[in-house]
Amino acid sequence: MKAWQGRFISGSSDLLEKFNASIGFDYKLFSQDIKGSMAHSTMLAEIGILTAKECEAIQNGLAEIEFDLKKVIEEGKTDFDIKYEDIHMMIESLLIDKIGDIGKKLHTARSRNDQVAVDLRLYVVHKVTEIQNQTASLMKLLLELSEAYVDDILPGYTHLQRAQPIRLGFHLMTYYQMFKRDYERLTDTLKRTSVLPLGSGALAGVNYKTNRELLKNLLDFNEISEHAMDAVSDRDFVIEFNSVVAIMMMHLSRFSEELILWSSSEYAFVEISDAYTTGSSIMPQKKNPDVAELVRGKTGRVYGNLMSILTVMKGLPLAYNKDMQEDKEGLFDSVETIQMCLEVFTAMLSETRFNTVEMNKAAKQGFLNATDLADYLVMKGLPFRECHHITGSIVKICVQTGCAIEDLSLSQLKQFSALFDSDVYKHLELSSVVEAKKSYGSTSKESTLEMIHKAKTYMDQL
Ligand code: ARG
Repeated sequence: MKAWQGRFISGSSDLLEKFNASIGFDYKLFSQDIKGSMAHSTMLAEIGILTAKECEAIQNGLAEIEFDLKKVIEEGKTDFDIKYEDIHMMIESLLIDKIGDIGKKLHTARSRNDQVAVDLRLYVVHKVTEIQNQTASLMKLLLELSEAYVDDILPGYTHLQRAQPIRLGFHLMTYYQMFKRDYERLTDTLKRTSVLPLGSGALAGVNYKTNRELLKNLLDFNEISEHAMDAVSDRDFVIEFNSVVAIMMMHLSRFSEELILWSSSEYAFVEISDAYTTGSSIMPQKKNPDVAELVRGKTGRVYGNLMSILTVMKGLPLAYNKDMQEDKEGLFDSVETIQMCLEVFTAMLSETRFNTVEMNKAAKQGFLNATDLADYLVMKGLPFRECHHITGSIVKICVQTGCAIEDLSLSQLKQFSALFDSDVYKHLELSSVVEAKKSYGSTSKESTLEMIHKAKTYMDQL
């Protein structure tokens, strides 16, 4: 007999049991569920629904169940009996088995609807902190690398065509900025996730004067939900978290894509260590960037999880509907995926060698100083559009003859404009081109070091 079967004449079909059960995945919420029940029972005692003794018996029972479940789950024995239906019913029935009738009082002033909402919110809050710590490690590594490679120059690209020379430290700091925003987006989600739904009952509130302030404090939430029906029917926080994780995966995927390109012999800008690359079963020479490729590939499933929960929620009438049980697997999958990706990506990056000689060589080919040649003429008083045109004609000649701009003699340059002087060659050097960038946030050494310094101060206060 199930806890809710009083009004039923006959039992459930085996098919229903199998189809309906969520214990196969929501066992992952066991510690949150117990935490919630601990707080709930303390509160029930405080408002006189449980005696101090009953509360103690319940809490001792719950503590033992938590200890046992932790052990069983760590041992990988997670094939819980589907007769339990879900984690909430399982823990309640284990409690009743353990302490008898007193256990039956725990569900007073509570519904599984506010129970599952509180569990899920506790889970997301907990995971946000873990993911933020992992993100911070990656950000720290990026700062170290940026500082170490501040003097090395590589081509910066637009349209995947060589555009202008930049510092490698500057390039890497781009990723730091992305992950910093991801870190902050995670913090932002807490504002709407750290809200206590417990005490809302099934949808309308409960017939007891529950002390929700106490629950909020016991469970470390920042706020209390203001509306019972909203509290049990809202899964925005899951959607928001999934979308933040999707954005973060997009960043990891772009970075991965770049490492994949850079480790090809066409670029040869990086070599990922043996520990984080794989070989081929047939081609003996191969060294493949599987980790980066898998991170890029796993981005797809995280996007899928976001689409899935958005779609589950879009047609639901108020309040709780069983469809919402489908919120969990995608959430757990996105959490596990981002955590694994952050861990392995950071480890791989820390063992990646940057081939700065090759980068420098590449930066010397492809007329990356052309914009600066145009700016040289601007400095001599010509309007930029005219300078652009003149420089374009010079590049055309260089392409035809297969030389670099700086290979042209002064008299050759003067054929394009009388304003060229011998000081032009200094302006065309890679280091001058990079240092000529004076705007705030540019790739000059001073500016790049300033970014790194600012970032370090930021990291110190996290
Ligand atoms: N296993 C359910 C879920 O994940 C728990 C809530 C069940 N509530 C209900 N009214 N049947 O959504």
